Amino acid sequence: MSLKRKRIVVLTGAGISAESGLGTFRDKGGLWDEHDINDVATPEAWIKNPKLVLDFYNKRREMVVTSKPNSAHLALARLEKHFDVQIITQNIDDLHERAGSSDILHLHGEILKARSIQNAESLYHIGGKKIKWGDLAPDGHQLRPHVVWFGEPVPKMYEAEDIVREADIFIVIGTSLNVYPAANLIYVCSPGIEKFIVDLNELTNVKYKNLQHLKGKASERVPELVDKLINGKKQN
Ligand code: APR
Repeated sequence: MSLKRKRIVVLTGAGISAESGLGTFRDKGGLWDEHDINDVATPEAWIKNPKLVLDFYNKRREMVVTSKPNSAHLALARLEKHFDVQIITQNIDDLHERAGSSDILHLHGEILKARSIQNAESLYHIGGKKIKWGDLAPDGHQLRPHVVWFGEPVPKMYEAEDIVREADIFIVIGTSLNVYPAANLIYVCSPGIEKFIVDLNELTNVKYKNLQHLKGKASERVPELVDKLINGKKQN
C-alpha cells in the first residue's frame, strides 16, 4: 500500500532572491525606483529603444550568473525528500534550479534563455551571454530575452492555476503580490488548506482565512518553516 505524499505548492517572488544579491522591484531602492517600467519592460519599450531593453536584461543576466542560492532556496529543495513540492516562481533567475529543486514553473520567463521575436516557442539557452542588437535566432529574426513584459500574456498561468488547485499546503515567499495575474494564485487554492506567507513586511493586501504570516527574512523564516513541516510530518 502506498501513501500519497502531501503536495506543497510554493509561489516565490523577488524577495527570496534578495539575500542572494538580486534586487527586488518595489522595495525602496528597488529596480522600479531606478528604472521606468515603460522604458525597459514593455513591448512598447522594445519598439522604441530595443538596445536599452537589451542592456537592462543583459545586466540582470550578469547579476544572476554571479549570484548563488541562499538558505531559503536550499531549504525548499530539502523539502522534496518528504513532500511532493512544486515551485511556481515569478523570478527569472535560476536559483531554485541551482539549489536542487526539481519541479519549477517560471511564470515570467527565464533570463538565461533567449527567443526569436517571431517565435515564442523555440528557446535558446544562452547562460550568461549578452544579447546584442543584431544577434539573430536560427529563423533569422532578432533575439530577445525570454521574459514576460508588462502588457504581454502570461502563457503559463493556466498551468500554474491547475497546480495551485491541487495544493494541500500553499506557501508564498517574498512577493508583494502586486502583479497580476500571478497575485491571483492565492485565491485559486482550496480555502481549507494551510497557507503561509513569508515576507519582510506584513502584506496588507491579502485578506484570507487560514493564512499564517511569517514575518522576517526568507533566509531565516523559510528554513524554520521547512523544518516545522518536516518534523510535523514525522510525528504524524
Ligand atoms: N525576505 C523576505 N521577503 C523579502 C526580502 C527578504 N530578504 N526582501 C524583500 N522581501 C519582500 C518585500 O517585502 C516584498 O513584499 O519581497 C517582496 C518583493 O516584492 P516585489 O519587489 O514587488 O517583487 P515581486 O512581487 O516578485 O514582483 C512581481 O513584478 O516587476 C515584476 O516581473 C517582475 O516578477 C516580478 C513581478
